[in-house]
Amino acid sequence: KFEGLALTPPMGWNSWNTFQTKINDSLVREIADVMVSSGMKDAGYTYLVLDDGWMSRERDSVTGNLVPDPKKFPNGMKVLVDYVHSKGLKFGLYNCAGTKTCAGYPGTRGYEYQDARFYASLEIDYLKFDWCNTDGINAKEAYTTMSKALKAAGRPIVFSLCEWGTNKPWEWAENVGELWRTTGDISAVYDGYIDHGTWKQTGVMPIVDLQKGLRKYAGPGHWNDPDMLEVGNGMSVAEDRTHFSMWCMLAAPLMAGNDLRKMSKETQSILTNKEAIAINQDKLGIEGFQYEDKDSLEVWVKPLENDDWAVCFLNRSAKPMKINHNWKDELITDPLFHKTMNAKEHPYKIRNVWAKSNAGDTQKPLVAIVPSHDVMMLRLTK
Ligand code: DGJ
Repeated sequence: KFEGLALTPPMGWNSWNTFQTKINDSLVREIADVMVSSGMKDAGYTYLVLDDGWMSRERDSVTGNLVPDPKKFPNGMKVLVDYVHSKGLKFGLYNCAGTKTCAGYPGTRGYEYQDARFYASLEIDYLKFDWCNTDGINAKEAYTTMSKALKAAGRPIVFSLCEWGTNKPWEWAENVGELWRTTGDISAVYDGYIDHGTWKQTGVMPIVDLQKGLRKYAGPGHWNDPDMLEVGNGMSVAEDRTHFSMWCMLAAPLMAGNDLRKMSKETQSILTNKEAIAINQDKLGIEGFQYEDKDSLEVWVKPLENDDWAVCFLNRSAKPMKINHNWKDELITDPLFHKTMNAKEHPYKIRNVWAKSNAGDTQKPLVAIVPSHDVMMLRLTK
């Protein structure tokens, strides 16, 4: 693959979670405009990615090339890519390793090198590659072939593997792409269950549990992808804040999936919280982990640059929960990445990321209430 891409988790917007295949030229332009005007671009959201549904049902009968749907994209795709680039953003497209995409459009199976050249000619920057209609195909081989095809086409394109974790991509994809899905499809449901096979809803929180054990595989240029964001798509403000906080703690790609043109002030302020994003985008690229789970109050921690730590108290229960945490009682160690938060010996200053306020230091125990389905996310600095 190309060196140096996605050294921090990719950030952007993807059409699927809100629009499915109902995408078109003016939607893309409007989203690009609002990415700039809403502060999303300034907050770091760079990639505008069109998911399934951008193509015609058939390839070009003469060249075999993919064809952007002329009804949805009457001016073709290149002008749109140019428009998005003119806004200082990057552009992404979607296809599938199988014979057809999940929504039934032409897949890339057998056309890997040709499609890669097509994407390079459009000057796109990101490719999401799905896993429908792949009977009898070996995932590692299929994704490696596409990765090599992109490399051969010569344009640096972030390669996003989307085989839902079925073939344990974390074990083999570090040098194949920049991110790999670890789960089935997310939906805007706080408490769902895992069942990609029958396309039932997959809830936000079970996805969080699915990440356990995978953090050793993530790092700069190769990320676990617990799926795109559902912030602004129907959960409560607290639930959206929790979802976003956990994706920050997990060093997950931050691909917004809401209609940015219509987002509420609350949604906007969650998605553009720069202190939360800084935790996600930390240069060390270490995925956080669950440190403690006591009486339904979970404590997640993430080592950051300069010996800072992010600490997120997560209340998944239906009732408010009390935090009573004496920082000086214990060392918090990350056994995998050899980091230690030693508040016994060094006091840390505490910053409350959502309240956007300073919250004293670790000399005193932290006593606070976390409402149901909410978090308290802190940044500790020496
Ligand atoms: C399945 C993927 O997991 C989704 O994110 C989305 O890309 C759809 N396919 C599109 O058909």
